[in-house]
Amino acid sequence: MDCIPRDTPASRAANPLQQLSLEQLRRRTSMKWRAYPEDVLPVWVAEMDVPLAEPVTRAIRDAVELGDTGYPAGTVYAEALAAFARKRWGWDGIDVERTAIVPDVMLGVVEMLKLVSGPGDPVVVNCPVYPPFYMFAGNLGRTVVEAPLDVSGRIDFTVLEDVFGRVASGGARPVYLLCSPHNPTGTVHTAAELAHVARLAEAYGVRVVVDEIHAPVVPEGAVFVPYLSVPGGERGLSLMSASKGWNLAGLKAALALAGPAAADDLARIPEEVSHGPSHLGIIAHVAALRDGGDWLDAVLAGIDGNRRLLVDLLARHLPAVRCTPGQGTYLAWLDCRGLGLGDDPAAAFLERGRVALNPGSSFGTGGAGFVRMNLATSPELITEAVRRMATALD
Ligand SMILES: Cc1ncc(COP(=O)(O)O)c(C=O)c1O
Repeated sequence: MDCIPRDTPASRAANPLQQLSLEQLRRRTSMKWRAYPEDVLPVWVAEMDVPLAEPVTRAIRDAVELGDTGYPAGTVYAEALAAFARKRWGWDGIDVERTAIVPDVMLGVVEMLKLVSGPGDPVVVNCPVYPPFYMFAGNLGRTVVEAPLDVSGRIDFTVLEDVFGRVASGGARPVYLLCSPHNPTGTVHTAAELAHVARLAEAYGVRVVVDEIHAPVVPEGAVFVPYLSVPGGERGLSLMSASKGWNLAGLKAALALAGPAAADDLARIPEEVSHGPSHLGIIAHVAALRDGGDWLDAVLAGIDGNRRLLVDLLARHLPAVRCTPGQGTYLAWLDCRGLGLGDDPAAAFLERGRVALNPGSSFGTGGAGFVRMNLATSPELITEAVRRMATALD
């Protein structure tokens, strides 16, 4: 099959996803590898099975050797992200004066929601969507309102406008929590779609908070458009981070960004929020953004090969599963409704196949009968995961 990447010593050496053995991965103590017993193959939570990019390892090692483990200072994260955005997305719109460091993307989302809404206010999400959107907004006392994506995983503007119309009445301060690119579908929203969002948000008085954590994961050939760059995006608030692109979730740091018309909102962020990110985390994220571009490209090439491999494996072993892996993520959203495993196929795959995937129903309305699979691993483990899924049907 010419669509499947060739496996040669050179291709293995160049692919960060093929550098750690299963035995090494099982020695990890992070969530992906510790939440399930040893006989379960984990392809769920968004951690990547890669060694760190060399510039990141070097930066952390230098900091540790120097004892540079104090509090974070300055705007170095914003400067590194601004340079990355210029080079990668041709976007020159990051003004360090309109940024703030936050502990991580989800806590940053919470801080942005606090700035532009109050208790009980509606937070609109495009389900199926990253489950913590429900958890964090709910825990903050906001009311999550669903605006389902259309069947192809794109924003349904008729639905969105209808929901905006409903939440805008009654004196509330509604927020649209947009996921761009979208998790779990990997949908990369176009400039026209994002401008449409901005027009609707303006018309209905809805504030837009956009989670752009997956932006660095968008491969060449697809175009990531920062929400703050589109006409009308000036009132937006965004969260960006190196954590998904370089597997740095345990090295806590992220950046909140405000468009020019939202600068006053961001300026109200309490000073103590900036005490949350780890200084070592910022050092790691900055090294990734500044010097980790080649490594990221190598990972993206590996993920692209895994997407094609997955489609081929599903066609051969689980033809009733439908999947068109999106480009803006290393996660795959699998429609398993044709398998006859009910609303929670992940439970059957776990119990009978000993493979852990995310249950689709945790992603809100539209998720029942789906599972989310993590493709940031080796082709061997993707192959083994699909084999295990197929045995659950025996
Ligand atoms: C869309 C999205 N937002 C946020 C996060 C979590 O980011 P953080 O660990 O920086 O809170 C993830 C992790 O997978 C994600 O997919």
